[in-house]
Parts: sequence; C-alpha cells; structure tokens
Amino acid sequence: MMRISRLLQFLGILFLNVLLTTQALRHRKFVVRDAPFTKLCSTKNILTVNGQFPGPTLYVSKGETIIVDVYNRANYNITIHWHGVNQPRYPWSDGPEFITQCPIQPGGKFSQRVIFSEEEGTLWWHAHSDWSRATVHGAIVVKPAAGNTYPFPKPHREVPLILGEWWKEDVVKVFDDLVTTGGDAAISDSYLINGQPGDLHPCSSNDTFKLNVEHGKTYLLRMINAAMQDLLFFAIANHQLTVVGTDGSYVKPFKVEYITISPGQTMDVLLEANQPPLDRYYMAAKAYSSALNVVFDNTTTTAILQYKGKYIPSSSRTRTPHMPSLPSFNDTNSSVNIISQMRSLADEAHPINVPMNITTNLFYTVSINTLPCPNGSICKGPSGNLFAASMNNNSFQLPSKNNVNSILQAYYNNISGVFTENFPDVPPQLFDFTGSNLSKFLRTPSVDTEVKVLEYGSTVELVIQGTNLLAGTEHPMHLHGHSFYVVGWGFGNYNKDKDPLNYNLVNPPYQNTVAVPKNGWVAIRFQTKNPGVWFMHCHLERHVSWGMAVTFIVKNGNNPEQQMLPPPPDMPRCY
Ligand code: C2O
Ligand code: CU
Repeated sequence: MMRISRLLQFLGILFLNVLLTTQALRHRKFVVRDAPFTKLCSTKNILTVNGQFPGPTLYVSKGETIIVDVYNRANYNITIHWHGVNQPRYPWSDGPEFITQCPIQPGGKFSQRVIFSEEEGTLWWHAHSDWSRATVHGAIVVKPAAGNTYPFPKPHREVPLILGEWWKEDVVKVFDDLVTTGGDAAISDSYLINGQPGDLHPCSSNDTFKLNVEHGKTYLLRMINAAMQDLLFFAIANHQLTVVGTDGSYVKPFKVEYITISPGQTMDVLLEANQPPLDRYYMAAKAYSSALNVVFDNTTTTAILQYKGKYIPSSSRTRTPHMPSLPSFNDTNSSVNIISQMRSLADEAHPINVPMNITTNLFYTVSINTLPCPNGSICKGPSGNLFAASMNNNSFQLPSKNNVNSILQAYYNNISGVFTENFPDVPPQLFDFTGSNLSKFLRTPSVDTEVKVLEYGSTVELVIQGTNLLAGTEHPMHLHGHSFYVVGWGFGNYNKDKDPLNYNLVNPPYQNTVAVPKNGWVAIRFQTKNPGVWFMHCHLERHVSWGMAVTFIVKNGNNPEQQMLPPPPDMPRCY
C-alpha cells in the first residue's frame, strides 16, 4: 500500500516536472502559407513563413531548447530543418523529408523541439522538402549563455544578411522540370540580399536593402548563404571584413577584402564603419561557379551601406555608391583562399576536442553522373541521358517512392524494406578521380536508399573526394546532427600516406558544411555522440535532388543518456 502511494507521489512529481519544463520552454509560431511578392517587375505567390521573406529570425541563447509550432496553411507538403542545430538525442525534429519524418500535410501541425547545445553564433532554418527552401528560410541567432560575452568587442549592432536566389518562375515548376526532363535546372534570375535583388536589376531600386551605419562604430553581419545553386563571393566597397565565426562556432579573427560563402554555410563578419561618411558603398554578391560549360546565374546582387548622422546632408543619399571588386566567377584560388584561413579559437574558454585515435576511416567520392533515359522518354541530360549525382557511386534515393515510413521511423520501429545498410566505406571502383577524359562507364551509379551505420562513440575520419566525372566542381557538403573539424583539404586525389602529415589537428575550424574544392578533397573528423538518423548531402540543390547524399544511422550507446529520446506524439503521419 505504502509503496503504491509512494510510486503515485513520485509519478505525480515526475508529471509535474515534465509539465513545468515544457511550459518553461519558449514557443514560436511558424505559419507556412502562400504570400504574394513582387520582384524584378513581376509578382508571384511564394511559400513563406508568417508571410515574410526571408522568414522570421529566431533568437536564442546557447544551450536553450525552444518549441516551434509549425502550422502548414499552404497547399504543399512541407518540413522544416534547423540547419546546424545538432538536436542531441532528438532527430525527431530535424526535418529532412522522408529521412526523419514524413511531411506536414496541408492543414497539419507539428510542434518541433529545437535543442541547442554547443552552437553559438549564426545558424539558420529552412524547408527540407523538394525545393521549397528557396523561399522558406530564415536566420537563427544563438547568443552567448547568460553571463558570457563574445570573444570580440561587443558590436554596436547586429544585422542578419541573408543571401538568396530568385526565379521569376514558380520554383515548384523549376523543380518539376528538373525531375521530369532529367536535364539541368533553369538558372535563376537574380541573387538576393535580405530578399532584394538590388538596384542593378530592373524595378528593384526602391526596395534595395540599405544598412545605415554610424561612423566609428562596428557592426556584426550574420551572413547566411541560403542560395540554391552557387557558392557566392561577397564584398563591401572600400571596407575590410573581419571574419570571426562560421557555422555557429567562433574562429580566430582574420581580415579579408571579400568572402566566399557556400550554400548552407554561415559566417559572422565584423564591419568597421570607418570610411568617408558622405559616400555610399555597395555590398555585392555574385556566383563562384567553376564547372566547365555549366551555365549559371551570372548576375550581381547589391545592397547599400550608407552613413547616418545629423551633419550628413540628405543629398549624400543620392550619390552613386562605390562598387567593390569581386573575384571572377571561376577563380578557384580566390575561393579556397577564405576557407584556408579558418582556425578555431582553441583557447580555454573555447576548447576543442579533435578526435585523435580514429576508429572508423571512411572515404567517399562525390560525383556528377548520368543514368540511361527510360524507354519511351525524352531526357534533357548529357547526350540524351538523365543527370544524376552520387556518393561512392550510389545515387541516393529517398524512401518515399516505395514506402510510407521515414528512415528514422523505420529504424526506430524495426520496419524492414525501407533502406539497406550497405553503403560502402570506400568507392566500389578506384580510378584517377580528378583525371581528365574519364571513361564513360564510371558514370552510371546505382540508385538505392543505402545507409551507413555507425556505433555510438566512434571517432570518424571521413575524406570526401571530388571527382572530374562529367564536370569537376565544388560541393558544399553538409552533415546533420554533428559538427565536425575540417582537418585538411587539397586539390587532386587524396594521398593517404602524405596528406595526413599536413593535417591541422591543433586548431581546425568546427563546421557543419564544408566545400569540397573543385577536383579536390577535404578531410573531416567527428565523434558519433548523437544517436539517431542523420542526413549528409551536397547543399547545391540540384546535386542533392540528383542523389548526392548518404544517411548515417548512429546507434544508441549503453547508458540511457547515450540513447535516442522517444518520438513526440504529433509526428506527422505517413500515408
Ligand atoms: Cu541545410 Cu539538409 O540541410
Ligand atoms: Cu554538389
């Protein structure tokens, strides 16, 4: 009797605790819906969050957990991903469609728990179904925990600067064409800075984003490359930039004239307003696109930096802004010049923990390929074939086509037939990956839902090797659920005897997205301390649509606190 009442009391307290912690969490409301936007002289409906484009900024403190109540009031399936938020033990809210959840259907709602842990700086959120992230995205600002400060002098003001990409056409149509024709995607009509093409484009001067600064003050630009298809160069005329962070982690400050930023990547950049205040200055971004014979959006997007103050006559507001010079579109050396300067702080307040004894060595190629055109169809890919892309010659197939479960749900509930565990640790065939005139038969990948299973606590070194199949180009590879140390990179084929000797194991940057250079490789290290199902893919949208992806399953550890938490009751239903 006594025991039962104790138990009830205990359960009561437990229940109260759960209730209290849930209530204490801050909620944000995201309503996904269509809204009309006018750009480049024409108006179209786009998918938005809360009618905003870019969407609302989430402000949190390091280590906080928040709940985002996502309502789908659009006519389109949607999922939302918190890019760079590692979601310890809780892949349920991670968001990639058919990897960790089925989509939120029109009229549906999903309360997503967003669990911040070690991240501090700038991250972002975006849709993770088809190409809807083109317009469904926004910034996440992670402030230092209470009582902590930035590792640099407190800036006067902070400004999210989101680089995006705009098609006059409906992106749903652009995506459908890519899928149905098997050809390359239609190129966009402009890039955007905070949702605006800038005044070099028609009908765009009134809405151009303007940053008003006070002379002598320092500003923190929280930059995000939310564009779909290209790495971007960005610079501000006459002003140097000091890079202080990337991907929600600080770096040793370094000064540059321009930055290169990959789709998926974020950069925290200090701007000193120290130039003649009567002048105006363009901030400008344009593509870095090195693949031979690949058409891309070669336009320049701009915003305007102008000074304010009671002595500045309003006539200075009409001066023609200075234009920064940006590297040319195929300048690979200028592109890698920025990533090669990244070093983590690696000091007492920001310790690093680079895995030294590697238990799991992985070597993955990333390639552009073709698949034969199905009988009776017309395909617009190379020589009448379908475009494809692969990792270790497997073109990743989302399980949606044959199944009604996400990979996570199938794994958690032991449902077979959704995926296979045979993703290879090395390419099935070795060849001169970055050589020229590669033989055609190397280009036909397998098409499967293959995952790589990792034990809890493994120390992984993954070398990602670019190839010159079809067209060597850069691939910004993004890993969900874990940040990783970028310990090395180089051009050409990775050499397992020589290249590790030049690794940076002292202060490598800690990232969630890394651009594999054109016809080159990168080496990353991480420890699997986050059980769950985690997607890894190229953040160039056409490449991931073509299958440049892999899924990791990180198994539970032995202790309860090394195990996945149970799913929430409102997981979107799979049909
Ligand atoms: Cu920012 Cu899987 O994506
Ligand atoms: Cu790619």
